[in-house]
Amino acid sequence: AIERTFSIIKPDAVAKNHIGAIYNRFESAGLKIIASKMVHLTKEQAEGFYAEHSARPFFGALVSFMTSGPIMVQCLEGENAVLANREIMGATNPADAARGTLRADYAASIDENAVHGSDALASAEREIAYFFSADEVCPRTR
Ligand code: CMP
Repeated sequence: AIERTFSIIKPDAVAKNHIGAIYNRFESAGLKIIASKMVHLTKEQAEGFYAEHSARPFFGALVSFMTSGPIMVQCLEGENAVLANREIMGATNPADAARGTLRADYAASIDENAVHGSDALASAEREIAYFFSADEVCPRTR
């Protein structure tokens, strides 16, 4: 089915000028970028986005990294978009990421791992709404 998923290019990958290379991976895989913007998260925005991880030992480091510089946030649309994007990204820990995935090619560590992608349809819906109003999402008819 055609799905929408939410994606972040994290501060490490933006700082290394990998935005275009990563967008190329999405588009080459048939995922369409239907909303996109650059944002520099506040501590409150990062804490809210990652609230489900608030009890984890890495939460403080995660929030501090995600607020360390601008990020690109995007909504991707396509066949099985949630799983397709997770395959493009590779495993959370770049040490475990398959060859040719974004994390294998662009991530330095589990903390600075270049990209985020929704893990399920329900979280995709929540995450898209966290960053984009309805009029900022532009479904493609061709
Ligand atoms: P992300 O998909 O953005 O969701 C939460 C982030 O926490 C994750 O990617 C990792 O970058 C980071 N993180 C750091 N340590 C861990 C860990 N042990 N397990 C999962 N995520 C971690």
